[in-house]
Amino acid sequence: MDAHKRLTIGLFGFGVVGEGLYRILQQTPSLKARIKKVCIKHPGKKRNAPEDLFTTDRDELLNDPEINVIVEVINETEPAFEIVTTALKNGKDVVSASKKMLAEHLAALLELQKETDRSILYEAAACASIPVIRNLEEYYDNDLLHSLRAIVNGSTNFILTKMFEEKLEFKQALLLAQQLGFAESDPSLDVEGIDAVNKWALLLVHAYGIVADPKKIVFNGIQNIQAGDATVAAEKHYEIKLVGQAKKLLNGKVAAFVLPQFVKSDDHLSFVKNEYNGVVIESGFADKQFFYGKGAGSFPTASAVLSDLSALRYQYRYEYKKLYHHAPLELTDEFYVKAYVSFDDWAFIPKDKFEWIEEWHAESERKYLIGVLSFRELKSAGWWRENKTSLILTPEPIIEDVEIRKLKKKSLELAGIL
Ligand code: HSE
Repeated sequence: MDAHKRLTIGLFGFGVVGEGLYRILQQTPSLKARIKKVCIKHPGKKRNAPEDLFTTDRDELLNDPEINVIVEVINETEPAFEIVTTALKNGKDVVSASKKMLAEHLAALLELQKETDRSILYEAAACASIPVIRNLEEYYDNDLLHSLRAIVNGSTNFILTKMFEEKLEFKQALLLAQQLGFAESDPSLDVEGIDAVNKWALLLVHAYGIVADPKKIVFNGIQNIQAGDATVAAEKHYEIKLVGQAKKLLNGKVAAFVLPQFVKSDDHLSFVKNEYNGVVIESGFADKQFFYGKGAGSFPTASAVLSDLSALRYQYRYEYKKLYHHAPLELTDEFYVKAYVSFDDWAFIPKDKFEWIEEWHAESERKYLIGVLSFRELKSAGWWRENKTSLILTPEPIIEDVEIRKLKKKSLELAGIL
């Protein structure tokens, strides 16, 4: 496959990641990859590269027969989808870092890869520098993968670290994340958990063969976390992290969500600070494994794009093994979670929706409780993210259906009812 030994790249986007890739490629001549043209939106901007490299005409890249790889690292979702689909249809392989586009159009992109027999790789789209997608795809068998817990958004982890360890205000911490190039151009995507859930949707297909619409996965960001939550966390020797979790339950289905979580000090994820990401995988026989690395920023993200380019030289493609070669798994809502909930007024909290409440503290202005809720309740109701209510899962939050029945029976026995 000589054509692929030398990669001729058409690059879309010259922002944080695009420019990072350009610089990295200049330092890795062994890759035999050359950027032929870069398509940008605003031609007037001063850029640190030869002017004749740039164009605003996307067809100059997409219709150039010499260009055999399109690297797409732009910000807008729909234009990115157009570029990627046209590239595949025109017989080009694609490397993309557009998490939102990939997650929202995953089903269509799976079909298109089959139809065109071309490859689209996107290691940079989840956990930036950590090679998690290829590992999930290649290394872990479906049967052996018990659970996945991860910090997948660098900006929110950076903000939480700066707020709670360095006592910066939220706004200051966010501004810093923006200045350092970690945050999305619309930072609400980070803060409200949308970026994290998009990444989670991508990981679910490689971990368990589940193609899930990210809008249907239960998620929240860090926007409701209050200073009082950090005080409670500190009293209990916990940290607050935004955690994606997926776990195979006893019923053979998968529980998955992205929510703020209390993390114990001996949890690997508590070690993950600032813009770093971390992934804890639990698998049969191997027990726990921990992946750690920079989850945002120019060079860390570009390094994952570079690795995808290198993989394309030997015609690597995702086989989506768990989806196509195994019986793919399904998501389930049939489980319970233990959560800490803080709020301003009891009137905002539907107490009857809790299976039971273990702790409640109503003495100060900001009140809180710790209780068990069905996941269905979280999925169907919005009270837990409205009226400045803050919901943070406790460590090991998942309680399975069978366990809850046992726990309920035990409490009835203790009460002398059974
Ligand atoms: N805004 C993203 C983050 C960039 O903070 O994780 C990397 O995907």
